[in-house]
Amino acid sequence: MTDLTLSNLLQAFIYESINRLIYDFYSGNAKKEGYIEIEKTFLEFSDYSRSHAKNFLKLAEKTETEVSFKYPEIKITNTSENLKICIKILSEQINNYEKFAVTAEKENLNMVAVKFRTIKRALINQMETLNSFMLKITDNSFFEGDKNTLWICMKCGYVYEGERPPEKCPACDHPKGYFRKKQIF
Ligand SMILES: [Fe+2]
Repeated sequence: MTDLTLSNLLQAFIYESINRLIYDFYSGNAKKEGYIEIEKTFLEFSDYSRSHAKNFLKLAEKTETEVSFKYPEIKITNTSENLKICIKILSEQINNYEKFAVTAEKENLNMVAVKFRTIKRALINQMETLNSFMLKITDNSFFEGDKNTLWICMKCGYVYEGERPPEKCPACDHPKGYFRKKQIF
């Protein structure tokens, strides 16, 4: 393994470690603002970052090396802005992981290249989810559906059908923010 791929793996490890913390911070903002689905998603993504970080670290042959990289500006503001920051972070990371995969391939480190590409795929999925949240908050449609939309209370599992979730869950009294759209399988 060259110093370049080693440095790339450690950069990815550090990047994911920071992401984990950022997601934790942002989950707190989402909860305060009543977006419980976003809070839970951030916490889930925080665990994903932990897994990514561990996988990158396991591939690094050693950890004592120079790592220099630019991380996008971090601010802890409101959920709408926090989501935009995450999207920027993820977009840069996705580009970097592709570059790192190409470098690893040139060094015949196919396992490393596969790792960068598979985790890149996971990040694309995260970015799409966060982008969809961001768009819904921006156009004020986070709690909008149609008359047949099923809303499930994430606290107690009560299911409500209608355009919008109730202001308060009739089963457990938790506020509207605890409802998310029920996925139909
Ligand atoms: Fe409930």
